[in-house]
Amino acid sequence: MENTDLQQIVEQASQEIAAAENEHQLNLLKSKYLGKKSTLNGMMKKIGTLPPEQRPEFGQKVNKAKKRVEKLLEGQAEKVKEAAYRKAVTQEAIDLTMPGRKTNFGSLHPITKVWRELEDIFMSLGFEVAEGNDIEDEFHNFDALNTPPDHPARELSDTFYIKDDVLLRTQTSTVQIRVMQSHKPPMRFISPGRCYRNDNDASHSPAFHQVEALVVDEGITFADLRDILNIFVKKMFGPHIESRIRPHFFPFTEPSAEIDIVCVNCRGKGCHICKNSGWLEMGGAGMVDPNVFDQLGIDSEKYTGYAFGLGIDRIAMLKYNIPDMRLLFENDIRFLQQFK
Ligand code: PHE
Repeated sequence: MENTDLQQIVEQASQEIAAAENEHQLNLLKSKYLGKKSTLNGMMKKIGTLPPEQRPEFGQKVNKAKKRVEKLLEGQAEKVKEAAYRKAVTQEAIDLTMPGRKTNFGSLHPITKVWRELEDIFMSLGFEVAEGNDIEDEFHNFDALNTPPDHPARELSDTFYIKDDVLLRTQTSTVQIRVMQSHKPPMRFISPGRCYRNDNDASHSPAFHQVEALVVDEGITFADLRDILNIFVKKMFGPHIESRIRPHFFPFTEPSAEIDIVCVNCRGKGCHICKNSGWLEMGGAGMVDPNVFDQLGIDSEKYTGYAFGLGIDRIAMLKYNIPDMRLLFENDIRFLQQFK
C-alpha cells in the first residue's frame, strides 16, 4: 500500500510541477509536497510506529520519493527561469535597423556668425580684440570724442540716459578712448559690441551692433585706412565687392568719411535694396582728430591714426539677404533655423 501511495504522490507532484509557470507556483508546490504538513512529511513521522525491521526500507522509500520531488522542483525552476529570460530578451531586444531619434541642434545667430567672422578677418590682419562697456559715461561716449555739449546726438531723443552722466553707449567709438587711455602707440584694435539709440524701424533697432577699429602709429595715413577697408570688405563679401568712401563729418575724426560697398544684390546696377544707387552704406571712418589725441596725452605731432565703425547687423543683413533688421532680434526659431 505504501508503494502505490508513494508512486501516486510522485506522479501527481510531477504533473503539477511540470505545469508550474513561475517561481511563486513552484514555491506553493514545494510546501505542498515537501513542507511540514505534506503527506510525505507525515509518512516520515509515522516511521516510529512501524515494527523496527520495516523501518529502514520504509524510510528509504519515502526519502527516495522526497528526493525525486525535489529534483522535479529544481528542474522546473530552471525551466521557468530560462523561459523568463527568453521572454525578456525577445521583449527588450534592440532593433539595430531602426532609424535613430533626431536631435534638434541649435544654430549660431547670424550676428554671432558675422561677429566671429570679422574677428577672424581682423585678427588675421594683425588686430587685437578689445572689449568695452555697454553702460558708459558722457566722457567716453561724447566729451573725449570731441563732441560739443550742444551736439544733437546728446539729446534724450537720440540717447538712452540711465541717469545724469550714465548712458547706454550710442557707438563703439567709446572703446577708442578706453584703448587710448590704457595703451601706448602703436595700437591696432577692433572692438565689436552692442550699441543703443532711440531708433526703431526696418533698418534701425534700439539695440544694434558695431565693430570699431582703431590704428595709431607713426606715419599712418588715409591710404592705410582705405587699404584695410578694401581688404576687409572683399574678405567678408567676396573679391568682386568694391568699397568707396565719401566725405562726411564726425566730431572725432578729421577728415571723415562714410564707407559704402557695391550693392551685394545688383552689383552696382541699381535695385530696390540700394535704392537704385548701386551702393550700400556700411559705416563711418576717418583720421583720428588731433584734439582727441591731445586730450588723452598722446603726442599728436608724432602719431597719426585712423578709426572706423561698421554696422554688424548691416553686414549680416547683406550677407544673408535679410530684408528687415527686426528679424535679427525677434528670435523666431523659424528664422534662426535657416542659419544652420
Ligand atoms: N561712431 C560712428 C557712428 O556710430 C562711426 C565712426 C567710427 C566714425 C569711427 C568715424 C570713426 O556713426
